Amino acid sequence: REDVWERLSEGLRFVKGSFDDPASFQELANTLATLERERGTGGNHGFYLAIPPDAFPVVLKQLSEAGLARSTASRWRRVVVETPFGHDLASARELNAVVNEVFPEDTVFRIDHYLGKETVQNILALRFANQLFDPIWNAHYVDHVQITMAEDIGLGGRAGYYDGIGAARDVIQNHLLQLLAFTAMEEPVSFEPSELQAEKIKVLSATKLAQPLDETTARGQYAGGWQGGTRVVGLLEEDGFSQDSTTETFAAITLEVDTRRWGGVPFYLRTGKRLGRRVTEIAVIFKRAPHLAFDQTMTEELGQNALVIRVQPDEGVTMRFGSKVPGSSMEVRDVSMDFSYGQAFTESSPEAYERLILDMLLGEPSLFPVNAEVELSWEILDPALAAWAAEGKPEPYEAGTWGPPSADEMLQRTGREWRRP
Ligand code: BG6
Repeated sequence: REDVWERLSEGLRFVKGSFDDPASFQELANTLATLERERGTGGNHGFYLAIPPDAFPVVLKQLSEAGLARSTASRWRRVVVETPFGHDLASARELNAVVNEVFPEDTVFRIDHYLGKETVQNILALRFANQLFDPIWNAHYVDHVQITMAEDIGLGGRAGYYDGIGAARDVIQNHLLQLLAFTAMEEPVSFEPSELQAEKIKVLSATKLAQPLDETTARGQYAGGWQGGTRVVGLLEEDGFSQDSTTETFAAITLEVDTRRWGGVPFYLRTGKRLGRRVTEIAVIFKRAPHLAFDQTMTEELGQNALVIRVQPDEGVTMRFGSKVPGSSMEVRDVSMDFSYGQAFTESSPEAYERLILDMLLGEPSLFPVNAEVELSWEILDPALAAWAAEGKPEPYEAGTWGPPSADEMLQRTGREWRRP
């Protein structure tokens, strides 16, 4: 809204400077003090650090030395840290120590914008506000779970950040493991932030990579191809990427969650750039009925029942189950039953970042992963990262497809296949 923007923009200031120059931070402090006087802003400060991880130590030190990080009883200081938080467990620990030297843990907000998405919060409503799903949400009924985050965009213009980071660190360590935690955790006793975090920590500490990694993981790098009728280049031809870059743009892993609820149910996670289309979904795939009183020909077109949480775009939930095809013979075929946000609600969803920034200002930490979750996520992923680093180049896949052949083989080995979202 124009009037809101006008009011907000009057309070915007831009302070230019470099991270290693104390004078820039002094100027930032003066600017904030002036703003406070002129506009009566109340003296609370939230610092949003969307900076490269190696710049953290210097920026935090400067904030501290300029007196900007000190809270008082009536004025809070908070810091927002963008993902990925570190590049493995050891670096995440170091980074955390650096952050906590300046900002106490309860003032640190590690942002994972997936938790700000309406459809992700709806996992909690779907699972815990209803009676329908809980009884079947376990290894007795669930065969496996697939979590997919596919993007059609390439990495032109993002080499500085992405080269050397790759798909697993960029997306699996944070967004996809958070989706897994919401899907697999036990019901918290309440939605107090500490209770919710306790359940996420519990489930993440029971989660580990399935072995052997050369059969249960896959990674790829996009080569040239066609997307949406346009010819696109491969990663190695994108500006800024080195010709021998081993950065993966596709990663898939298999996880086991060693709890009574999930024993024996694999969780397959995959993400990639330049895939068939942009879609994020969680598909809970159910076991087949233990006995079918139909002739085999009647159920030839019956797949496995599934509940699909459509995170984006086309937000909603789909159920897949078999139905009789109209006609004089008994023939069963898969059909879908859909809930779509667009049709069910007239309210529109806030942007993920809008919700999270507001929560930070209100000091409401439920939707922010705590340090223990970040460290557990690295602990889960690190063995795959190490194995891949020793392997060298990822397998190429054609842009516009669904990833490298090794990703399909990874599921075929267990008699399963990826859903085509
Ligand atoms: C970011 C990643 O965290 O999430 C990007 O760094 C990715 O590489 C983005 O494109 C995707 O976000 P969304 O909300 O569009 O799924």
